[in-house]
Amino acid sequence: MAEIGQDISQAKRVLDAAKLVAIPTETVYGLAGNALNPVAVASIFETKNRPSFDPLIIHVPSLKEAENYVTDIPAPLRKLAGQFWPGPLTLLLPRKETIPDIVTSGLDRVAVRVPDHQLTLELLSKIDYPLAAPSANPFGYISPTSPQHVDAQLGGKISYILDGGICKVGLESTIVGMEGDEIVVYRLGGLDISDIEALVGKVRVKSHSSSNPQAPGLLESHYAPTKPFLIGDLATLILDHTKEGTDFAVLSLDKKFDSIPSGYQIALSPGSDLKEAATNLFAAMRTLDESNVQVILAEMMPEKGLGKAINDRLKRAATKG
Ligand code: TXA
Ligand code: MG
Repeated sequence: MAEIGQDISQAKRVLDAAKLVAIPTETVYGLAGNALNPVAVASIFETKNRPSFDPLIIHVPSLKEAENYVTDIPAPLRKLAGQFWPGPLTLLLPRKETIPDIVTSGLDRVAVRVPDHQLTLELLSKIDYPLAAPSANPFGYISPTSPQHVDAQLGGKISYILDGGICKVGLESTIVGMEGDEIVVYRLGGLDISDIEALVGKVRVKSHSSSNPQAPGLLESHYAPTKPFLIGDLATLILDHTKEGTDFAVLSLDKKFDSIPSGYQIALSPGSDLKEAATNLFAAMRTLDESNVQVILAEMMPEKGLGKAINDRLKRAATKG
């Protein structure tokens, strides 16, 4: 298992040696390496078992630092960065040549963000390179929101996890770029679309699919538990599975079912707060995935605010067919 601690100098030593460190952010934990060193970046792909056509986000300590790695920041995106960085916003910007091809999978744009976590910002200010970091989970599985989640799955492959506690947002960053004059959202995430539109006007949300793996947010099946994960009307699903005699667990926004033992049901937010639900989502999916049931039954959230981003993750987690 990996060492878990809060020693920034140790994290820096590991990174300076072109090795990987798991870092806390406000969204999810990242598996970080020196973005300017193709060897370090290659080991990120290898450690996660991630296909090389899926590009990585680089993390920098400030907007000013971001300027070193991109040739231009269009005005609306600059406005968003000014308002929401540090925070759960990733911008797709035209890259400078200093960013290795392996980071962007050969694409012209690089994904950049300033994470909102004090330990990681401190680490970023002490190194002279950006950190390439995807979520610190094996490719396709649920993203980690605690050091223990990272350790459970990648602990055998990395030496150090920087412990920043539980991620307060709990969903990956919202990814935004421009196509001509149009502002495009490529992945729904921890920053609500309505907050973006309030600042820069209407945006287009581009849906992505497995038939277009170059698009961000990427593959349709993602964030997935190992157990069958079914979404629908909970009352109906519970009735059907009770009749069949299947062992199941239930994931809801705010419900409590008297007929189901407490260890086999999780309400993401008993007070129906979507922000709280987002924070708890991935940990809840993991807990139920690790319980001794055959199937997980879940309901969709209201399609508003962060509910849209949660629903995106639920749909990708869902068992197809
Ligand atoms: O909140 C987050 O964004 C977390 C934390 C660690 O920062 N990171 C994260 O990274 O979720 P990852 O690699 O799990 O997801 C990044 C997504 C991928 O779907 C990838 O396809 C897309 O961003 N992406 C990265 N660079 C891109 C680029 N140059 N063009 C298009 N899409 C890109
Ligand atoms: Mg990921």
